[in-house]
Amino acid sequence: MLILGIDTSCDDTCISVIEVKSQKSKVKSFKILSNITSSQAKLHAKYGGVYPFLAKREHQKNLPVVFKKATKGIDVSEIDLIGVTIGPGLEPCLWQGINFAKDLAKKINLKIVPVNHIEAHILANFIEENLKLFPAICLVVSGGHTQLILMKKIGEYKLIGETRDDAAGECFDKIARILGLDYPGGPAIDEQARRWKFEIRNSKFEIKLPRPMISQKNYDFSFSGLKTAVLYDFRSRSPKVRKSKEYIQEMTKEVQQAIIDVLISKTIGVAKEFRVKTIILGGGVAASQELKKQFKTACLNSKFKHLVPPKNLCTDNAAMVGVAAFYHRDKATFDFEKIEANANLKI
Ligand code: KG4
Ligand code: ZN
Repeated sequence: MLILGIDTSCDDTCISVIEVKSQKSKVKSFKILSNITSSQAKLHAKYGGVYPFLAKREHQKNLPVVFKKATKGIDVSEIDLIGVTIGPGLEPCLWQGINFAKDLAKKINLKIVPVNHIEAHILANFIEENLKLFPAICLVVSGGHTQLILMKKIGEYKLIGETRDDAAGECFDKIARILGLDYPGGPAIDEQARRWKFEIRNSKFEIKLPRPMISQKNYDFSFSGLKTAVLYDFRSRSPKVRKSKEYIQEMTKEVQQAIIDVLISKTIGVAKEFRVKTIILGGGVAASQELKKQFKTACLNSKFKHLVPPKNLCTDNAAMVGVAAFYHRDKATFDFEKIEANANLKI
């Protein structure tokens, strides 16, 4: 079975074709035939975040080009199903992907599966069949979301906790802007923090940031205070220090560790409380090697199984949408009128 996935929930235009081999509804193998992402990061860099109507216009322009690349060497008439993200995300952007999916589906007479973007981040881990994992706790950490979700099985979720203000990825992006680093901030901070370990390795400025809500007996997060703490520290330094590689690297290392400490501590806590078997990580922030490493160690120490998607399936992509569409193929429909963008779609 060939599935074409589409995601335009934020600033990446993503189309993928995956091949699923299954027998008696059991997955035998998933194969990614193409997974094309056209990033608008450079365009939005000057705003320090995504500018929705600019993103919408770019999606409109990029979709046919990305589609052409994603279906190169693939007979489009062989595609069996289309999966498209309907939310959560930026509404004008979501509509671009949805309308593209509808036009294509009408042209080649295919059904569409509406896909939840958060669930797709989780199901990026199910590109291989994973058995005996449930119940699981999923930590979804992206630019728009930081959520702890109890997963009883594929399709059955309960939101346990989430951020009360900024998402972890958003916090990285805003702090990178304060420090004068590139957008998106997550990879830029990851890189600077990694360099500190090799180049500096001693703590000259002794920066100590808060770990917001780490000891509170709930499973919510808050990251906006962390951003403010960075801003105060940054403003207290001389212009020379602010620009120095020692300060930037030491600050990014501490920012990264503060976020990782909170994410891991809360996740392990909720996993113990709900007595789950597995912890599943997903979302753009999961692309951080350091988070992955510390997450794996924490899971092993507490005897939880763990799943982390491959790096190319952490940040927004359409292969994860194809995988989600496969698991929800019973929701495939020709009733396109009912497929609508829902910016605040919940898991
Ligand atoms: O899942 P995603 O691609 O888009 C949303 O659904 O929001 O996540 C994007 C977020 C951005 O905030 C970006 O800074 C962050 O993921 N990110 C990272 C890394 N790569 C991307 N954060 C930390 N370390 C990274 N290597
Ligand atoms: Zn995402």
